[in-house]
Amino acid sequence: MRIKAVAISVVVLALLAGGGTWWRIAHRQSYVSNPVQNSNSTTTPPAKNSDGFNKTKYSLTDPTSLWVVANKQHPLQPVNYVPADLTVPSVPLVSPGADNMQMRVATASAVTQLFAAAKQAGLNLEVVSGYRSYTYQQTVYSRYVTRSGQATADQESARPGYSEHQTGLAVDIGAASGKCALEACFGTTPEGQWLAANAYRYGFILRYPADKVTVTGYEYEPWHFRYVGTDLSSEMHQQDIETLEDFFGVTGGTVYKAAP
Ligand code: DAL
Ligand code: ZN
Repeated sequence: MRIKAVAISVVVLALLAGGGTWWRIAHRQSYVSNPVQNSNSTTTPPAKNSDGFNKTKYSLTDPTSLWVVANKQHPLQPVNYVPADLTVPSVPLVSPGADNMQMRVATASAVTQLFAAAKQAGLNLEVVSGYRSYTYQQTVYSRYVTRSGQATADQESARPGYSEHQTGLAVDIGAASGKCALEACFGTTPEGQWLAANAYRYGFILRYPADKVTVTGYEYEPWHFRYVGTDLSSEMHQQDIETLEDFFGVTGGTVYKAAP
């Protein structure tokens, strides 16, 4: 009697398992068949890539947008824009108390996660420069011009009103040791290499790559990271597209357009 009960249980279990398989196959078939039905649709498709990424989700010109593109062809509008939610992250700072240690709340939160992950990897980072106001950038740019002349300055520093630092979404990052701070050799340090490989996981892109000078308008800056959010940074990483200009088809380059 007990043997019979066990045999019946085995049969019931087998039927349930088989039923599950059939349900999965049926579900997969209906899932696959949907795009075929949709291909005959006459409605306007959303502005998405073939992989479903919506490039029009956020503004590229509103300075409060995570995706705003600031370059020599696209000054900030208004040119004296100040972010409303500036804060100082609780991470190592090169100059605690200085005005340029601030950044937008979303950037600060992502920087905190980025620095924590670097620490897990045995690397200590520090913020070298975050938000810079129009007038602060004027001072920075003038210093470059005085030191090297305008042509060289324009390859390294943005004119006031054209800098990503004014959006509160850009951060210059260095090794806590200070080694190669704001120098091209930062790209060869363990900290610079880790950032280049991992920053996208936390919503950042390396904004001025060595091989994209004619697109971005600036020399290689392995320390300058721009917060764009993980949706965009992951998509750019997946598509292997380095610059905002190339990804969105926005004009850039080394020539300045006058601010309106
Ligand atoms: N160094 C970058 C380009 C800036 O000044 O914003
Ligand atoms: Zn920078």
